[in-house]
Amino acid sequence: MLIIGCGYLGRRLARRFLEQGQSVVGVVRSETGLERLRVAGIPGRMCDLDGDDPATLPLAGSDLFMLAPPPEAGREDSLSRRLVAAFTRAGSPRRLVYLSTTSVYGDCGGDWVDESRPVDPQADRAWRRLDAERTFEAWRAAGGGELVILRVAGIYGPGRLPLERLRQGLPLVRPEQAPFSNRIHVDDLASVCMAAMERGRDGAIYNVSDGHPSTMTEYFQRIAEATGLEPPPLIDMEEAPEQLSAGMLSYMRESRRLSNRRLREELGVVLRYPTLDEGLAASI
Ligand SMILES: NC(=O)c1ccc[n+]([C@@H]2O[C@H](COP(=O)([O-])OP(=O)(O)OC[C@H]3O[C@@H](n4cnc5c(N)ncnc54)[C@H](OP(=O)(O)O)[C@@H]3O)[C@@H](O)[C@H]2O)c1
Repeated sequence: MLIIGCGYLGRRLARRFLEQGQSVVGVVRSETGLERLRVAGIPGRMCDLDGDDPATLPLAGSDLFMLAPPPEAGREDSLSRRLVAAFTRAGSPRRLVYLSTTSVYGDCGGDWVDESRPVDPQADRAWRRLDAERTFEAWRAAGGGELVILRVAGIYGPGRLPLERLRQGLPLVRPEQAPFSNRIHVDDLASVCMAAMERGRDGAIYNVSDGHPSTMTEYFQRIAEATGLEPPPLIDMEEAPEQLSAGMLSYMRESRRLSNRRLREELGVVLRYPTLDEGLAASI
């Protein structure tokens, strides 16, 4: 198993494979990332896809997870393009599981969204994800190897709750005016990644969420309740452009409820944390 972008999710995934007796190499871009792998007992390599040559990694015939996010700006994912270019020199993986995001669907007006929904990226970060998906799809279409794409909702779990935002008392839009958003507990996501590598249909796309959408505001309110922190002050949607950060505002412009039926029925994943009740209890 080769896990490129072996951070918060990757370390949990790597530990699960190691517990099964599988060999794993985690790839990070920094000394800090490498140290985190060492502490977690995960064999690691440092390779910044943005500058180092990915052809030095053991790519040929590997089971490869690509978890590294695209660059911060632009509409292209240069990292995925460099990785595929390296396949032609170093050899292709047997199967690649790419971790994309649900942002590729754009604003869906609160509709339920399954994998047949046409993509409609709006933010640049969504265009970069779609660019990466297309790069890997072109590699597969040219006979490169097998590919499974996971379109993943907001990841939460131990050490990955927005407690700092709550502590700062930053406002959020009233739940009745706020868009729908979707989440997945990191351990369930790790299970999905393993299932996708083992038995995902070659060429398939799977939405990954717990199947219980709620608004971002309700999510924060639930965390406040569970941790004893003050709930966020509430504002009207008209006040959002002045009071929210550009990043939060871009999430407020998109509303969708993600169906995870294909994940459950085709991939056969049984989620351990299908609701926030279970997921937050295991995260705090
Ligand atoms: N947060 C969410 O809610 C969410 C939702 C959907 C999808 N995702 C995506 O899911 C993936 C995994 O998430 P995560 O929470 O595990 O992310 P994370 O903790 O930020 O880990 C990302 C990893 O990628 C590595 N990396 C970054 N740029 C790289 C580069 N240029 N070359 C090589 N490695 C690079 C980082 O290395 P260092 O450790 O050395 O920095 C880190 O190990 C990411 O692509 C993320 O964008 C996140």
